Amino acid sequence: MEEQARPRIMELLIPHKEALVLILLLVESWNLADCYDPLDPNGNITVTFDIFQWTQEGYMARVTIQNYYQYRHVEIPGWSLGWTWAEQEVIESMAGALATQQGDCSRYKYRTLHCCKRDPVIIDLTPDAAPENRTANCCHSGILSAWAIDQSTSFSSFIMVVGGLDPKAAPQKPQNLTFLAPGSGYTCGPFEVHTPTVFSVVEGRREEQAFKTWKSACTYSSFVANNAPACCVSLSTFYNPKITPCSVCSCGCQASGNERPTCVGDSEMKRLPGDDNSVGCSDHMCPVRVHWHVKSNYIDYWKVKVTVSNYNFASKFSNWNLVIQHPAFGQRTLSHSFNSTGLATVGNMDEAAIFWGLEYYNKELLQAGDKEPGSVMTEMVMHKDPESFTLRNGWAFPRRVYFNAEICEMPMPDDFPRLPNTSSRPSNACYLIFILSFLILLFH
Ligand SMILES: *[C@@H]1O[C@H](CO)[C@@H](O)[C@H](O)[C@H]1NC(C)=O
Ligand SMILES: *[C@@H]1O[C@H](CO)[C@@H](O)[C@H](O)[C@H]1NC(C)=O
Ligand SMILES: *[C@@H]1O[C@H](CO)[C@@H](O)[C@H](O)[C@H]1NC(C)=O
Ligand SMILES: *[C@@H]1O[C@H](CO)[C@@H](O)[C@H](O)[C@H]1NC(C)=O
Ligand SMILES: *[C@@H]1O[C@H](CO)[C@@H](O)[C@H](O)[C@H]1NC(C)=O
Repeated sequence: MEEQARPRIMELLIPHKEALVLILLLVESWNLADCYDPLDPNGNITVTFDIFQWTQEGYMARVTIQNYYQYRHVEIPGWSLGWTWAEQEVIESMAGALATQQGDCSRYKYRTLHCCKRDPVIIDLTPDAAPENRTANCCHSGILSAWAIDQSTSFSSFIMVVGGLDPKAAPQKPQNLTFLAPGSGYTCGPFEVHTPTVFSVVEGRREEQAFKTWKSACTYSSFVANNAPACCVSLSTFYNPKITPCSVCSCGCQASGNERPTCVGDSEMKRLPGDDNSVGCSDHMCPVRVHWHVKSNYIDYWKVKVTVSNYNFASKFSNWNLVIQHPAFGQRTLSHSFNSTGLATVGNMDEAAIFWGLEYYNKELLQAGDKEPGSVMTEMVMHKDPESFTLRNGWAFPRRVYFNAEICEMPMPDDFPRLPNTSSRPSNACYLIFILSFLILLFH
């Protein structure tokens, strides 16, 4: 009974739900300024440093980089890991990765050491690395899959022989860990002592234990990364001929000072005047656009077609993923031609799902050609929950969309395609609420 009464009260309180959506969007974008991601609150990249053997002047250690992010992956050209040694350590040899610089090893007369730098930087080996330089599960060119997509390729590990230590002294934790993937954005905590890692050996019939285990978690913050927006969302429906394009200059229009740019060319792929365009010219100026089309509505289910377009002339995405938040993902959803899985969200958030390409079919989102953007598309069949399903008030559109873990700019709810015959202008009360909420946020 109460459940049914509630929506009516909401309707009385708020003359236009669009205003509510707008306020919620503003409040949520405020939250996003923190590095807390409600769709992936525990995500991090954990670096584990396991000492498993003592040597004359040091020890042997295995370093494992595990990506626990549900939908944030590490792409080509891959990760690089750096730290500062606390003492006079050197890396005598290494397998499964390499230090980018050897540094000054001149004080070691009779041996060739791998790296004598106080602040080594380590990168992964390529898949064609020689057998003697490999370790188990190594050599993926620094690529780490997202945890929700493929756990078996979501980590890297390498082994190193560390020397240069006083045999009597206890080993010290490496300091000031840095993780680049390959740009900045990650901040790593200090190494902390952990319960020793247990390795299974002899095909799982015996367990061995590390002598010492240190762990550090590196977390991503878009504030630290400070990337320009790279993706926007456009919308259309079967019941309204209006197409809501991406907002003008969603991804910034540097050349024209945030005015609609003047594009040249007559195909879908236009260019900015000038010779060196890496991204096609459009009103939104985004390298990637996600289009959501509400295609049909039946008694038990409804269909949406989603198209992802790449406007980059030179770069393709070889392991793209798309996260979409929409209440309908709580119901059974079938997506043709994309692989997908649900994403556990926290609190009373709407459901979210993650989509990625099928092997040998559309795992790559190609670069743009001369005439049209590179694209991948899917048709989703969503089962209806008659209690919540509606085509009114923009319910059928996604709440949030992320491409490769970067949030996509949504059009303003006022511009969403509407059902025919609903009032088209928000009332003054609605603007008042909007302006008030904006002021509150401003002085928050
Ligand atoms: C890192 O992620 C793992 C898996 O979600 C979690 O168990 C661990 O507590 C996280 N570490 C930190 C420091 O957040
Ligand atoms: C293995 O790595 C070492 C450096 O650590 C390098 O000198 C050597 O050439 C590599 N071996 C092969 C076969 O690539
Ligand atoms: C680690 O970084 C801090 C702050 O930048 C610095 O004070 C400290 O000396 C660094 N530690 C080492 C071992 O370089
Ligand atoms: C879907 O993704 C899973 C996990 O990455 C993978 O094992 C499976 O082969 C994929 N299916 C297709 C058809 O690519
Ligand atoms: C919807 O609009 C059409 C044309 O504008 C009009 O003929 C019709 O009566 C309207 N229906 C309602 C329920 O307002």
